[in-house]
Amino acid sequence: MKKVLVTGGLGFIGSHTAVELLSRGYEVVLADNLANTNAAVLDGIAAIAGKRPTWANVDLADQVACRALLEGHSDLAGIIHFAAYKAVGESVQKPLAYYRNNFGSLLNLLDFTAAHPACRLIFSSSCTVYGQADTLPIREDAPVKPAESPYGNTKQVGEEILRDGARAHGFRAIALRYFNPIGAHPSARIGELPLGVPQNLVPFITQSAAGLRGPLKVFGNDYPTRDGTCIRDYIHVVDVALAHIYALERLLSGKGSDPVEVFNLGTGTGSTVLEVIAAFERATGGKLQWEWAPRRPGDVVAAYANTEKAAAGLGWRAERTLDQCMADAWRWQRTLPAK
Ligand code: UD1
Repeated sequence: MKKVLVTGGLGFIGSHTAVELLSRGYEVVLADNLANTNAAVLDGIAAIAGKRPTWANVDLADQVACRALLEGHSDLAGIIHFAAYKAVGESVQKPLAYYRNNFGSLLNLLDFTAAHPACRLIFSSSCTVYGQADTLPIREDAPVKPAESPYGNTKQVGEEILRDGARAHGFRAIALRYFNPIGAHPSARIGELPLGVPQNLVPFITQSAAGLRGPLKVFGNDYPTRDGTCIRDYIHVVDVALAHIYALERLLSGKGSDPVEVFNLGTGTGSTVLEVIAAFERATGGKLQWEWAPRRPGDVVAAYANTEKAAAGLGWRAERTLDQCMADAWRWQRTLPAK
């Protein structure tokens, strides 16, 4: 049984990935310091998978604590590294905290892979590295644009750190550039747990529909798109989780040309904000209250993935529809306490 460490394993994408690993017979160790989630997620994972993974409450940016954790698991086949701060606006307010946390944890994990190069690594990157791409759909070889935020910079520089480390120390890694992961597990046992007012579109929609927030503000009605609202590539979190399994299997089987490969994780289809609202209304049978609001600074007009490299290299494509995403996000929302 191959052992895999999932950092941020109680978070949104980490928890869904843990479920898929467990159901394929991997031994799973979760590391999560509950910075942006809670321990009850472990029960959700165990309920779906029928197995309870080991969980270590460790701050991976703490070098001593990280080293102690890894020393107990020197037989790791792989590390899937989700643990990071991820709020764009907060990163502008607290850049040093973002750099310390996101780079500290990555460097501590790479010290381990440098010493144990057989241990493969998967890094959570983001389509934010492309900024407003010149060509759509976006291919992986599109230029990386200057980061709009410290958060975005941690993804760009994180990829560079991986490449330099792999070249010098002989380990292998895959960086996965997520587009817009949404939805929840269809069992509604795990999902997204945004802290405070959700900044992202779909959690705001579900909280608004649940009566926890006012009407959705749609940021901008004059973008050069088919209905004036921004276009994004929304992808079901279970599809994103499955891509990590394929990426891990690619690394473990020794396939791949470069020490660090990069793949987009998107559906290839762009949806406008109004199309997302329409999908939510179709999936739930209700009407969503919304109103126009000014453009949000930093938003790009349109971003959606070219999916060919992931299909060819990982043997993976997203399969779940936007309507399924919305139905699952709503089912999950209805299990959450009304507060
Ligand atoms: C945002 C981040 C991105 C990060 C990603 C994952 C910004 C500018 N980008 O992506 O760097 O990788 O989250 O966390 O913050 N929208 C509304 N009303 C809302 C919320 C969103 O109209 O209340 C619109 C936005 O203008 C955008 C779309 O919905 O057009 C998606 O927004 P969001 O879910 O925040 O994702 P991104 O901006 O794509």
